[in-house]
Amino acid sequence: MGHLAGQLARVAGARVVGITSSTEKNEILRQQLGYTATVNRRSSSFVDDLRAACPAGVDVYYDNVGGPALEAVLPLLARHGRIVCCGVTAHYDADRPPAGVTDLATQLIVKSLRMQGFLVADYLPRWGAAQRELHALQKGGELTVLEDIRDGLDSAPGALIEMLAGGNIGQLGVRLAPDPPGWRALLEIEQSSQ
Ligand SMILES: NC(=O)c1ccc[n+]([C@@H]2O[C@H](COP(=O)([O-])OP(=O)(O)OC[C@H]3O[C@@H](n4cnc5c(N)ncnc54)[C@H](OP(=O)(O)O)[C@@H]3O)[C@@H](O)[C@H]2O)c1
Repeated sequence: MGHLAGQLARVAGARVVGITSSTEKNEILRQQLGYTATVNRRSSSFVDDLRAACPAGVDVYYDNVGGPALEAVLPLLARHGRIVCCGVTAHYDADRPPAGVTDLATQLIVKSLRMQGFLVADYLPRWGAAQRELHALQKGGELTVLEDIRDGLDSAPGALIEMLAGGNIGQLGVRLAPDPPGWRALLEIEQSSQ
């Protein structure tokens, strides 16, 4: 699976880095199959070797094995990188059921799941439209915004500790000073004009 996926990536124009457990296999990948670089997963310098082989990070990782290889690749993934979770061979003969990142990979595979990072900054161009839509839902009574507001800067440390213990109900905020008269109305006008 891995040697075919790597060649298809090469044909599609990718710079391909292969991971195997032997010098012999790695030579075949580079000399016969056109891989740019290879890394031996059994080497004591595996993690450093992999980082050196992927100086610009990893855009796509085709994961057949899970385990230490997946853990080594994760920090190298580039922004908007992708992982194809295909197999978890590193755990097929384990004594215990998979846990942690391996269980995650297993769940992704057997249920054909997709898991994607969400970063609010990626959606900034749609901020205004989203605000209008959310505001309309709130005004129509379909969206309830729960807020838990504490007064004064002195309440901030306690509020933070309470929030981390799950003590707040709704978005926890610290109000530094009371709202000036008419502030809410002004905010509503500004939101509806966006
Ligand atoms: N999702 C799907 O629909 C689907 C379909 C078919 C297969 N699969 C899965 O895809 C994966 C690859 O299948 P394949 O047919 O290509 O397998 P394969 O030809 O049997 O290749 C297995 C390779 O995995 C490596 N390996 C073995 N034990 C390992 C370990 N503990 N840690 C890391 N690597 C290890 C070995 O290469 P090196 O020792 O050289 O690293 C071995 O040559 C398997 O996990 C399989 O279950 C998924």
